[in-house]
Amino acid sequence: MKKITEIAVVTGGGVGIGEGICKRLAQDGIKVIVTDIDFIKAKSVSDMICDLGGQSDAMQLDVVDEKNIHQVVENILLKHGNIRYWVNNAGISKIAPFLNHTNELWDATLNVNLKSQFLCCKEIIPHMIENGGGAIVNMSSQSGKVGTNEYQAYCSSKFGVIGLTQSLAKEFGEKNIRVNAICPGVVYTPMWDNQKYDYAKKKNMNPEDVMEYFRKKIPLGRLGTVEDIANTALFLLSNQSAYITGQAINVNGGDIMF
Ligand SMILES: NC(=O)c1ccc[n+]([C@@H]2O[C@H](COP(=O)([O-])OP(=O)(O)OC[C@H]3O[C@@H](n4cnc5c(N)ncnc54)[C@H](O)[C@@H]3O)[C@@H](O)[C@H]2O)c1
Repeated sequence: MKKITEIAVVTGGGVGIGEGICKRLAQDGIKVIVTDIDFIKAKSVSDMICDLGGQSDAMQLDVVDEKNIHQVVENILLKHGNIRYWVNNAGISKIAPFLNHTNELWDATLNVNLKSQFLCCKEIIPHMIENGGGAIVNMSSQSGKVGTNEYQAYCSSKFGVIGLTQSLAKEFGEKNIRVNAICPGVVYTPMWDNQKYDYAKKKNMNPEDVMEYFRKKIPLGRLGTVEDIANTALFLLSNQSAYITGQAINVNGGDIMF
C-alpha cells in the first residue's frame, strides 16, 4: 500500500533552525512547504531538498500579515492538499538595555515571535479539525523559562509562546491536535552573527569570545546545533510523541533544567 505523504509547513524556514527543521522533516519523507519572509532563501532551501530527492515547495510568508497567512494556507491546500504539521519557527531577537527598549522594538518582537503564532494557529487549526487532527510545534527558547537582563521583549515573547502552547493543547487535545513548544539553548545561526556584538557589549567582552563563553557553561560541553532542534521537532510532530502535548521541551545540553 502506498504511504500517504504528510505535509508540513515551517515558518522562517529560509536559514538557521527553520532550515534545519525543513531538511530533517524532508529526510523523513514529509513534504515540506518552506516559508519565509525572504522568498529567495525559502526557495533555496526547498530546491536543496528537491535536489536530494525530497518533496518540497517554497512560499513567501510574512508571519505578522494575517491576509498573507490566509492566502498561503489556501494556496497550500489547493496545490498540495491537507496540512498535517505546522512549525511556528520564525522569530527575531534583540539584546538592548531595558531603558533603551523602544515601543517599536517591543511591538516588533511580540508580533513576530508571539502574535504570529496566534495568527497561524487560528488559520490552521480549523483545517486540522476538519481533517481529523494534526501536530503543531511552537518555537520558544530557554528565554521562555528564565528572564535575562537586557532581553525583556524577547523573554516576554518566548514566555508567551509557552502560555499559548499549553492553552491550545488543553483546548484542542480532544480534536486530536497536539501542540508543543521547543526551548532551545544557544544555537549558532545567522541570528547570532549580529547578536554576538550586542551580547559582547552587554558583557564587555570580545564578540569573537561570546560563543565560547556560552559553550563553557553547558554541561554537555558544546553549543546546540540546528540538527539537535530539528530532531526534536520531528519527534514532537511524529507519532513517537503521540502522548505528549502542552510541553515545552528544553534542548540545551543541560544549560537550564526546568
Ligand atoms: N539561535 C538560537 O540560539 C535560538 C535559541 C532559542 C530560540 N531560538 C528561536 O528559534 C527560531 C529560529 O531562530 P534562528 O536562530 O534560526 O533565527 P535566524 O535569525 O537565523 O532565522 C530566522 C528566520 O526567520 C525569518 N523571519 C524573520 N521575520 C519573519 C517574518 N516576519 N515572517 C517570516 N519569516 C521571518 C528570517 O527571514 C529567517 O529566515 C526563532 O524563533 C528563535 O527565537 C533561537
